[in-house]
Amino acid sequence: MDFKNIIFEKAAIATLTVNRPTALNALNREVLEEMARVIREVRHDASVRVLIVTGAGDKAFVAGADIAAMAKMSAVDGLDFSRLGHRVMESFEDLPIPVIAAVNGFALGGGLELALACDLIVASDKARFGQPEINLGLIPGFGGTQRLPHRIGHNKARELIMTGDMFDAKTALELGLVNQVIAPDALIETARKLAEKIAGKSAVALRQAKAALRAAFTMEEDAGLRFEQEAFGVTFGSADRVEGTSAFVEKRPPKWQHK
Ligand code: CAA
Repeated sequence: MDFKNIIFEKAAIATLTVNRPTALNALNREVLEEMARVIREVRHDASVRVLIVTGAGDKAFVAGADIAAMAKMSAVDGLDFSRLGHRVMESFEDLPIPVIAAVNGFALGGGLELALACDLIVASDKARFGQPEINLGLIPGFGGTQRLPHRIGHNKARELIMTGDMFDAKTALELGLVNQVIAPDALIETARKLAEKIAGKSAVALRQAKAALRAAFTMEEDAGLRFEQEAFGVTFGSADRVEGTSAFVEKRPPKWQHK
């Protein structure tokens, strides 16, 4: 696959790097469309077990949607751009495999929204986060008004979206937004270690866990609780459930077939 704005390394632990460092990896239509192609590829290839998303260069993960492009958009273009961004963010969430954001610098606006569409976030201690759209006369347009309160609670999300304030990695850890904060040169290695640990689990169970966790975001609580029961039932149809429970009883490590 040839891309202009991203680098995609396909492997069991695959990496998608947004690669527009001169614009701090800002997301324009082209970048979003290239991301959508990667997601389609990953979705249909069972050999990919975990996807890591990061940004090129040492300054930014993604500094937001492309402001220069948005400056020229009509209302209809803006709506269309938001719809595209939403589709892409949802398709990250909807991938059957875990997705880890490795935030290496600024994660602002659409960049924070991209991280929020990932299952886990590891950040370098140089990372800076925020939803600064309010300073542009805008609001978050790729899901931030919904996913940020879901991750960190309504009160703090309101403050951050209404002030546009940036915050550092330590604060992001305290807010429960990120899972780990590490030195910049250890970031990718840490994300890979986390990915390897998760890739060592049953893909069937991971898929059901991810779907059920997502239901907590997309469904009312009673429907979500019912969803969990169905998803739990699905794992009982898998060879991995037979193997995992037998291995425990036989006091040996499980050998997953991911089926
Ligand atoms: N879109 C387009 N270009 C961007 C950009 C963005 N979001 N962020 C940075 N750039 C460009 C700059 O214009 C600059 O380009 P030139 O060298 O051609 O002038 C280059 O990247 C480097 O940026 P700076 O010179 O500004 O770097 P800095 O270190 O002084 O500041 C920064 C870094 C604080 C991140 C600053 O660039 C900044 O505030 N960027 C915008 C952040 C922002 O507002 N993001 C939200 C966008 S709106 C959005 O995302 C809507 C949505 O939800 C869908």
